[in-house]
Amino acid sequence: MMKKEAQKSDVLIIGSGGAGLRAAIELKDNGVDVLVVGKSKKRDAHTILATGGINAALGNMDPKDSWRLHAADTIKDGAYINDPIAVKLLCKNAPRAIKELADWGVKFHREKDGSITQRFFGAATYRRACFVGDHIGKEVLNILVDQAKKRKIRFKGEVYIFSLLHHKGKVNGAVGLDFRHGRVIVFHAKIVVLATGGHSRLFERSSSRFWENNGDGIQLAYDVGANFMDMEMFQFHPTGMVWPSEAVGTLVTEAVRGEGGILTNTKGERFMKKYDPKRMELSTRDIVSRAIYTEVEEGRGTKLGGVWLDITHRPKSYILKRLPKMYKQFMHYLNVDISKQKMEVAPVAHYSMGGIFVDHTTGKTSVKNLFAIGEVTSGMHGGNRLGGNSLAETMVFGRLTGQRIVKELGRVRWLPLDEKLIKEKEEDLNSMLKAKKGKDPIKVKKEIQNIMWKDVGVVRNARGMKKALKAITKYRKVKLKSGNRLKNNQKLIAALDVKNMFNSCEMIVKCARLRKESRAAHYRTDYKKTSERWKKNIICIPNKYGKGFKITTWKVPEVPKEIKKLLKVKAVKVHLLE
Ligand code: FUM
Repeated sequence: MMKKEAQKSDVLIIGSGGAGLRAAIELKDNGVDVLVVGKSKKRDAHTILATGGINAALGNMDPKDSWRLHAADTIKDGAYINDPIAVKLLCKNAPRAIKELADWGVKFHREKDGSITQRFFGAATYRRACFVGDHIGKEVLNILVDQAKKRKIRFKGEVYIFSLLHHKGKVNGAVGLDFRHGRVIVFHAKIVVLATGGHSRLFERSSSRFWENNGDGIQLAYDVGANFMDMEMFQFHPTGMVWPSEAVGTLVTEAVRGEGGILTNTKGERFMKKYDPKRMELSTRDIVSRAIYTEVEEGRGTKLGGVWLDITHRPKSYILKRLPKMYKQFMHYLNVDISKQKMEVAPVAHYSMGGIFVDHTTGKTSVKNLFAIGEVTSGMHGGNRLGGNSLAETMVFGRLTGQRIVKELGRVRWLPLDEKLIKEKEEDLNSMLKAKKGKDPIKVKKEIQNIMWKDVGVVRNARGMKKALKAITKYRKVKLKSGNRLKNNQKLIAALDVKNMFNSCEMIVKCARLRKESRAAHYRTDYKKTSERWKKNIICIPNKYGKGFKITTWKVPEVPKEIKKLLKVKAVKVHLLE
């Protein structure tokens, strides 16, 4: 018999990163009873890994900047398949989000006149990223936790939500494993919000930590029949650490390049000249990632499959002020002083542009009483995300979604919990505990990540993806042995992760196979060109409940005129501005 707990709240937010907390604050400020559930402890969520900055067109450094230009950059970077409504909301509201964070106590880097300093990020026409050294995510999350505590927002940490609950197709709760205490918790709510983050840990080399971003939110939504969009669009950040083994994938912030960092191959060539002579190191992430990939493939990379990133031309005092985390990171892992030595870097899986379909005019998913915000969603970033836009998205859409739910709540009734469904879900967990034979789930998880990295990574083609799909189908049948403890059982958690990964992987591969072109982050060696015919969104519609899915395409909505006319503005020659 499993130990059980019951929790009730008007709104249940799954995910305690930036998006989840910001939504909770908005709800609480409007008198709503809200409960936030996180997989980690209170001040720990993937948000703390955000490093280089948060975008808003403040125009502090470059007065010609505007929210419209920010929107145009976002759409160009997304290769014209973004949802323009989402983009407009983000860019218009981002300056307000910065002001709010500053008022709450985020100590942004400032100019002598007191205005917030803004730095360059890739593919941005102007300096737009506001920052605190290179640890903006940690600062933002800490302030949000302080604000949540001040408001006495209910929080439950170290809980792995493994299923949503529903009543006649309407979501009304969730079931989770409190893995610290070894008990199951049944959550009852009127509205559930998924703020579970992305799925970069589907890939072997990832900028996420090994226990997060496995696509949990995708699977939760899949199970209740939610629609998904552009799952094939996944971002590979150009610069992650390549060694030592415990640090592989750890992000080397784009801010290094924003502050003037230069990429060279082992021949000493500044190779970005060949790939994007205008924007050089501050080209789009997909172009820089593929450039590094090509240099390595063609034999101009290091033995560990990387290239060199050099910021030694900046004084040490400057580096310590603007890039303190990077300085410590390289010192800690490699005893490398980045003010004197180059950094060895290579691309890493970083951000999921595709995800749960959300109608950005209402914030709703396609399932009743289910909302979603942040990286688990789709549409905002199209085929590629501008660095600095994700933190902005969490703040803007956290607040907006909170407001939208406040309006919606009046129309939502309490729906009874389906005891039979709860029992089924507990039985699923129980059968995982009972398995006497099977493979180690930690190993299986790594094997799947390897397949995705190798065959569905920076560069793809039909042959590799066919192989990947075959392997994923095979892995679905593999029996896992996770041991029979509910409490602090890493293997059980890995087994839940593995179960959550399959449908995300399958949707990514199937949509990537369907998209017979290269566009933004999706690059196919067998279809190298971008095709106007494929200026579409690819939609996955799961069958009820979680039994396979069908794929279709939707037309991308029109870009509003005020943004459209700015799509032709050429990027400034970035390094010459200082
Ligand atoms: O490189 C970075 O600092 C990443 C930022 C982002 O993805 O927004």
